Amino acid sequence: MKIITIVGARPQFVKAAVVSRAIEEHNSKNQDNLIQELIVHTGQHFDENMSDVFFEQMNIPKPHYHLEINSLTHGAMTGRMIEKIEAVLIKEKPDWVLVYGDTNSTIAGALAAKKMHIKVAHVEAGLRSFNMRMPEEVNRILTDRISDILFCPTETAITNLKNEGFDAIDIKRVQCGDVMYDAAMYYTERSTKPDAIAEGSDFVLSTIHRQENTDDKAKLVSIFEALEEIAKQQKVVLPLHPRTTKKLQNFGIETSANIQVIEPVGYFEMIWLLSNCKSVITDSGGLQKEAFFFDKPCITVREETEWVELLHNKVNFLVGSDKKKIIDTFNHVNTMNIDFSMNLYGTGNTGALIVEQLVKA
Ligand code: UD1
Repeated sequence: MKIITIVGARPQFVKAAVVSRAIEEHNSKNQDNLIQELIVHTGQHFDENMSDVFFEQMNIPKPHYHLEINSLTHGAMTGRMIEKIEAVLIKEKPDWVLVYGDTNSTIAGALAAKKMHIKVAHVEAGLRSFNMRMPEEVNRILTDRISDILFCPTETAITNLKNEGFDAIDIKRVQCGDVMYDAAMYYTERSTKPDAIAEGSDFVLSTIHRQENTDDKAKLVSIFEALEEIAKQQKVVLPLHPRTTKKLQNFGIETSANIQVIEPVGYFEMIWLLSNCKSVITDSGGLQKEAFFFDKPCITVREETEWVELLHNKVNFLVGSDKKKIIDTFNHVNTMNIDFSMNLYGTGNTGALIVEQLVKA
């Protein structure tokens, strides 16, 4: 069996690492039924600390194809990706194309494959924010509809698809847990303190990169004013996505010394930050769950989240970009006794379950 894996953005490298390792494990036990995996990197994320570091740390096989498509508008980026992925698929003739999450690389991979009648598997399927202004929401809805098998991380994801009428559509749906939980469990022992952080310091971990926050000056100002206020109480460590760095410069927003802005970190460093912080303030999808994996309360600066089970279990608090709400929630969370013991994202063997299903399908 031949699989082409499409990746392009930072969180996809983490997710693909889990499945690649499960494929290797399958191969070591099934010499007569080997899976060949070829990795296509679209190039969407290209900085050393947004891309290469993940391949190195997590031992992801080097991409067989690097398409070098980045820094374009959504249409141009997605269009060029489809064209170049199609050329790879014509040459390689895989049995499956494996796509992850909700990025432009995801929809481009799925669309190129589907039009060539190549089977598509979508990992992290069924998630919805119900906000059609988010490019991610458009990407995930379209990708789900044209996939052949949907690997759903949560019960909510299964329900979302049912509500969209998937019972009447011939697409296999599997609730298999979350690959990011596998990654967090497997790599925990390799967590590494980022050089820039002082040992024993008390801090809040924050990341901000969503287009709906970064591209709206009023929202970005409000979020950063809140972070400044919080940083007067407890240091804020902020590994900054290049998109946000650019926007802060464009809008003339400056940060004080209480906010420690650092370059984007690798996965092992992120795990260290998660293990050692007091709480998390973010607009990232992945980090909301990772906060939970490491028993940290999370304040989400978005209007909605795909990971609603975190809200229901009161480990995550959705506050939008309102300055006062962010600060008040931060102060409230600090006084709370939060239970993190529930199991929401599988048992850490999602990668193996995905490979097993692909072999069977
Ligand atoms: C993308 C995904 C989002 C995911 C996020 C993870 C889409 C629509 N969005 O958003 O779902 O949560 O990745 O980070 O696919 N840039 C650099 N260096 C890099 C990467 C990006 O300078 O290594 C710049 C780009 O040139 C661009 C900006 O950052 O100007 C945004 O990058 P882009 O890939 O468009 O979207 P993300 O915000 O990263």
